[in-house]
Amino acid sequence: MRDDYPMSLEILEIEKEAKDLFTIFVKNTLDGFVPGQFVMVWIPSVDEKPFGVSYLEKDRIGITFEVKGKFTKKLAGTKKAGIIGIRGPYGIGFPDPDSSTIVIGGGCGVSSLAPLIEKIKKSNSIIGARSKDMLLFRNRFKDAHFTTDDGTFGKKGFVTEILEGKLSAPDKVSQVFCCGPEIMMSRVIEICKKHRKKCFISMERYMKCGFGVCGQCMCGDKVVCKEGPVFESKDVEGNPEFNHFARIKSGKKVPVSDYVRWRGCE
Ligand SMILES: Cc1cc2nc3c(=O)[nH]c(=O)nc-3n(C[C@H](O)[C@H](O)[C@H](O)COP(=O)(O)OP(=O)(O)OC[C@H]3O[C@@H](n4cnc5c(N)ncnc54)[C@H](O)[C@@H]3O)c2cc1C
Ligand code: FES
Repeated sequence: MRDDYPMSLEILEIEKEAKDLFTIFVKNTLDGFVPGQFVMVWIPSVDEKPFGVSYLEKDRIGITFEVKGKFTKKLAGTKKAGIIGIRGPYGIGFPDPDSSTIVIGGGCGVSSLAPLIEKIKKSNSIIGARSKDMLLFRNRFKDAHFTTDDGTFGKKGFVTEILEGKLSAPDKVSQVFCCGPEIMMSRVIEICKKHRKKCFISMERYMKCGFGVCGQCMCGDKVVCKEGPVFESKDVEGNPEFNHFARIKSGKKVPVSDYVRWRGCE
């Protein structure tokens, strides 16, 4: 696929994965795509937004998304045989996992990790959500560890508690890959540092161009769409904006908690 303008792709399927979480499948292979990279999805006359890829199959890809605002509502309402535009892939993805890589996803963050979970021992993956009805891929990865904040499925508590348990046998872990809320990723970084394990996280910032031109996605000195979204933890430690501030659509810097709450209300 050319990455400089959107390719029109036909929607093959749209599946409900969990509450407010859907996967849209389009016919494409995204040759050379590395899990953790992202694509820009375009709905004509609506907008263009960044998404990870959750299914990398022989002749189709899947994008799993949470319905939040105008764009994702439209996406959830698209019909089979409808057309969307996709450009990319962009950015830097995760390194190749080995047999002792641990993969941790929180909330919708697990969607861009899913093609990696396909490649590793499923019991090395940890998937968390607030509640059972919001948990992704329960049936796809039956042998993964699951946690819910309210205890409605899997272990009650946070993914980080399972990680601590795994790292009590540190020689069985080579590195940790993580995607989810920044508060969770910060805790994962701390735990990995304590156990001297390499850690890679995927960062989310508001994106417009997706390829390093507009400056919208800056986090401190990092151009997240081009130098990330996947970073080794040592490259974000000490970044004054990571887990503290993010920019909304206008470019205004807000506390990261407000960024997550913000619903396109400008
Ligand atoms: C690299 C990357 C990969 C992503 N992958 C996924 C994914 O696999 N699944 C998924 O559900 N979401 C993903 N997102 C977030 C997704 O882009 C937003 O959830 C989506 O744009 C929301 O649009 P909306 O109009 O429905 O909601 P809005 O009401 O416009 O926004 C809701 C929230 O979504 C975020 N958001 C909105 N627009 C953007 C934008 N242009 N760039 C970044 N964040 C935005 C903000 O946190 C905002 O608070 C990813 C974001 C990035 C940066
Ligand atoms: S989104 Fe434009 S520079 Fe990153």
